[in-house]
Amino acid sequence: MIQATLHQLRVFATVAHHGSFTKAAQELMITQPSVSSQVKNLTNTLGFPLFEQIGKQLYLTQAGEELLSTCRIIFQQLDNLEMKIADWGGMKQGKLKLAVVTTAKYFIPRLLGAFCREYPGIDVALQVINHEEMRKRMEANLDDLYILSQLPDDIDLYTEAFMGNPLVVIARADHPLAKERNIPLKRLQDEPFILREMGSGTREAIRKLFTRNRVDIRVRLELGSNEAIKQAIAGGLGLSVLSRHTLFSEIPVQLTQDIVPGDDNIRCYNLGEQLTVLDVQNFPIERNWYVAYLHGKNLSVVAHTFWDYLMLHCSQYDNL
Ligand code: PGA
Repeated sequence: MIQATLHQLRVFATVAHHGSFTKAAQELMITQPSVSSQVKNLTNTLGFPLFEQIGKQLYLTQAGEELLSTCRIIFQQLDNLEMKIADWGGMKQGKLKLAVVTTAKYFIPRLLGAFCREYPGIDVALQVINHEEMRKRMEANLDDLYILSQLPDDIDLYTEAFMGNPLVVIARADHPLAKERNIPLKRLQDEPFILREMGSGTREAIRKLFTRNRVDIRVRLELGSNEAIKQAIAGGLGLSVLSRHTLFSEIPVQLTQDIVPGDDNIRCYNLGEQLTVLDVQNFPIERNWYVAYLHGKNLSVVAHTFWDYLMLHCSQYDNL
């Protein structure tokens, strides 16, 4: 392997990423025959095939999988070195790979805006996913930092809590339960519910609470997005349990000439006003936001910088 060049490894990793020689050639701005010959040379050096073609699909072999995870470590270390060198020269520079669960999108992009203004040399790649997808990314060691609220039991993480992330029952503002106080959990049994998809941390937290209290809820609809759920509640389809953060940032949109005041359509431009939080026993479900990284990972300078920034500034984003 000592004869393998960094260029060959970069070409191989790009082919593996796209599952295509053509796309890798486009991304690297070299010809396809050149991509093929780099991969061929690498295969000869290793003595094992790296890809197998089944139909039109390109798959990594076991040797290919191993080589890809080694490439990730090598490129990550080189990136880290570059960031350290920039840091020694007094510059915070490099790329931050951040994965956050869906509800964090209500505050992380704003925090990132301020962070990037303070550190213009840092570029951020942000993934917004649910807890299950985040688990898969952790297993593949794809990101520097993770922001989540439900910590996996079987992945060794270094974590720090930075803010509350309570789950509340949300209903349409004119729902009959909206005026009641201290509503027993059992009363929710008769209500149609809108839940997030399987694999969502929000859904898992709700499942645990209702199971513990032996309450069966009637799931009318499953939706893969918090925003779609809020729209469905406003449309009168039922109740849901969502993070309080999903209620942030309901900005009334300037009415245009096409919309006549008094028209029903106007209401969907002011979603926040159409939703309310119900006062239900056992709620809110108290949870925390955590920032995390894989135990043993060599954290880059920019990841450290973001971590410190988050700890210092997160309280500003708690009650927007
Ligand atoms: P989820 O996580 O997108 O996996 O539901 C959001 C949250 O836990 O608040």
